Amino acid sequence: MKIAIFASGNGSNFQAIVDYIKAGNLNCSVELLVCDKLNAYVIERAGNEDIPAFSFDPKAYSSKEAFETEITQQLNHYEIDFIVLAGYMRLIGPTLLSAYPNRIINIHPSLLPSFPGKDAVGQAYRAGVKVTGVTVHFVDEGMDTGPIIAQKAIEVSPGESLEDIEANIHRLEHELYPNVIANLLEKELRGEIK
Ligand code: GRF
Repeated sequence: MKIAIFASGNGSNFQAIVDYIKAGNLNCSVELLVCDKLNAYVIERAGNEDIPAFSFDPKAYSSKEAFETEITQQLNHYEIDFIVLAGYMRLIGPTLLSAYPNRIINIHPSLLPSFPGKDAVGQAYRAGVKVTGVTVHFVDEGMDTGPIIAQKAIEVSPGESLEDIEANIHRLEHELYPNVIANLLEKELRGEIK
């Protein structure tokens, strides 16, 4: 099974997935990084792992359809079966959604449907929640709205800073996401994802 990871920034989730595969825990390969920020650190990570990167500047295209068409060509070229969004800060449009039905997943740093959108950890922190967590979900046209696949919760202790919570959330993500991907790809192999 071949996957592409879409990311826009640091890429710690990208790294966690690649490391999990390298440790022999997941029978698939990351064939491509797709990145919409030309200077994102995740591109360097892909280079270090010898994973090809397709990075692009959305402003150089006339529309989302135009750059998603080019992304789709790249995905076809690398024979990608599954798309994993890991900090890709952009809504997925109809071009990609129709090319990969039920085969695009995302991780979000809150217990959806609470705190969708940007700065979810900050939103949760400012709301004073006592419990937060992470969600992996299928991607649809909405903002963090697709069907939920898995969630993991953590408690927020009194006095924890935003940075503490962020660090805990990241740790949780790095544990949960590779596992969920492994389960999902097994389902795909068994023909259970329609
Ligand atoms: C993660 O918190 C993820 O949940 C969100 O964006 C962040 C990406 O972090 N969608 P990184 O680039 O993987 O370190």
